[in-house]
Amino acid sequence: MDKAKTRVGVLLGGLSGERPISLKSGAGVAGALRERGWNVVEIDVGRDLAQKLAADPIDVAWIALHGKYGEDGCVQGLLEILGIPYTGSGVRASSVCMDKIATKRALRGIPGVVLAADATVRRGEAWPVNVPLPVVVKPPTSGSTLGISKVNVMADVPAALEAGFALDPELLIEEFVEGEEITVAVIDGHALPVVRILPKSGFFDFAAKYTKGETVYECPANLPIDVTTAAQRAAEASYAALGCRGLSRVDFIVRKRDGVPVFLEVNTIPGMTATSLSPMAAGAIGVTYPELCERVLLGASTNV
Ligand SMILES: Nc1ncnc2c1ncn2[C@@H]1O[C@H](COP(=O)(O)OP(=O)(O)O)[C@@H](O)[C@H]1O
Ligand SMILES: [Mg+2]
Repeated sequence: MDKAKTRVGVLLGGLSGERPISLKSGAGVAGALRERGWNVVEIDVGRDLAQKLAADPIDVAWIALHGKYGEDGCVQGLLEILGIPYTGSGVRASSVCMDKIATKRALRGIPGVVLAADATVRRGEAWPVNVPLPVVVKPPTSGSTLGISKVNVMADVPAALEAGFALDPELLIEEFVEGEEITVAVIDGHALPVVRILPKSGFFDFAAKYTKGETVYECPANLPIDVTTAAQRAAEASYAALGCRGLSRVDFIVRKRDGVPVFLEVNTIPGMTATSLSPMAAGAIGVTYPELCERVLLGASTNV
């Protein structure tokens, strides 16, 4: 491929709440690809995307969008219609991974992937009986811990439902898994080194975990080798079962009582600034940020 002649459109910004993060991911990716010699144009994605692409055509799209319309199969579908190859997962995998309920259903019974016990509740339905507390209540299509609550006692239920139903009409109720958080980036089916997410305080409190600046990242994670291997195999098995492509990142909690990595979710367009977790993981095996951005680009395709 002639790098200088291939017009790469980095799609960034977008219409979701994660727009600010996407602007940073996209700017980073565009700079990195230029550094590698590609002819790059940055395209801020709005409702006029189809018109923009018609007026100023590109050969391939590097999708640096997060959240609704960008990570959920919508923009992928538009690019399919326009016949433009794009990076990352296709329409179906993007759409399934955007929904944590659909994702877990698709992974049920997949060897090597351990799921937390769960239930669901729709707006207007009663709280399911026989769900042992504590649980985590999650709106299935949101990211960045938005609308997620921990329910320790029944008195916490109404507030958790209200927070969740503000974002989705059906909620995932998941057994609270006590342990350490890790995330595993997978590129073209192969897991990168595990990233361990450690609260600075060393205290695994649900609220403290999400306070900005209160976490440190360790990569490669200093975990027992069998835990690391189990997490990498589970990440690869999830990626394969869901039909992901290119780069995805799979979140887990390493369960304190037995060291089992319990699956949480797949991010099909993980953060892509130079300091994001997937570039950090690639760096641990000597793959630079520009090299990672280029590798993702070279995997671009038009097949769903
Ligand atoms: N079942 C669970 N048990 C304990 N903590 C959880 C559980 N599910 C989610 N969490 C916490 O909430 C965070 C966000 O959950 P996750 O499923 O990764 O959704 P997202 O990152 O899309 O908001 C996790 O990183 C974890 O800290
Ligand atoms: Mg997550």
